[in-house]
Amino acid sequence: MAPRPRFLMTDPSCFDVCYQINPWMAPTAWRPEHLAAAKTASATLKAALQAAGGQVETVGAVRGLPDLVFPANAAVVLDGKALLARFRHPERQGEEAVFRSVFTRLQARGVIGEIVDLPDGVLQEGAGDAIWDLGRGLFWAGHGQRSTRASIAAIRRTFGQEVVALELASDRFYHLDTCFCPLAGGEVLYYPPAFTPEALVVIRDRIPAAQRIEASAQEAAAFCVNAVNLGDQLIMARAPASLRAKLEARGYRLTQIDLDPFILSGGAAYCMTLRLDRTSDARPAILAAE
Ligand code: ARG
Repeated sequence: MAPRPRFLMTDPSCFDVCYQINPWMAPTAWRPEHLAAAKTASATLKAALQAAGGQVETVGAVRGLPDLVFPANAAVVLDGKALLARFRHPERQGEEAVFRSVFTRLQARGVIGEIVDLPDGVLQEGAGDAIWDLGRGLFWAGHGQRSTRASIAAIRRTFGQEVVALELASDRFYHLDTCFCPLAGGEVLYYPPAFTPEALVVIRDRIPAAQRIEASAQEAAAFCVNAVNLGDQLIMARAPASLRAKLEARGYRLTQIDLDPFILSGGAAYCMTLRLDRTSDARPAILAAE
């Protein structure tokens, strides 16, 4: 039997939008009732991951660190190794010590084998900017907004895997996971205007046209590219009908969740989670079945 996918999530009790480090964040629009909605949204996402066969580890909330609810930014994890993140913005740098102790505890339990640090001066915001492509067996890595270009070589050295660099062109799509989502069937859902012309050439060179699914501006702004994919299942924020049609035509089953409170911070399903059990030798069940 295949092992159950294991995810990290964070208790949202201390979530809010009280600073602005991306254009989606509007501290003046935040209302106390958004916290209650966030708790419901987070619990619904957790239940959806469990219903899809996943198990969820939960990080405790920490007052003063509202963006701790986005553990995709904690580390890059593959083959039991965790490369801990270093954040660009001072507002999030306090999360580094918290996530270090989380990973130290996971290591003590044998969930994680090894913890690795980035070289000095290198910024890298975890799996938000380094997405493992199960079918191709490589990392797609974003840089230029949060993570620095030097993070590409650091990821390559740490994991000994191919890393394809994609430079991000827009402050609205500041992490790769907001605009790029490789799917288990080999397709990639992506939002072209988020990339530099050079990055678009790389994407179009590497991924045949038949496997490229372009998100519209509306679909990207709904944070639907920021999705969790498990086989033929996709868990994401509420999706426009146009996107549902594109994905269902390819055989994917969508679970939509109202993640509006988290979208107020510029994040959704993928970045509210971190996969802990990815291995470089696994291949997607969808492809393996062919
Ligand atoms: N407010 C957070 C930030 O700007 C949102 C992070 C969302 N994470 C992600 N991987 N897209 O850092």
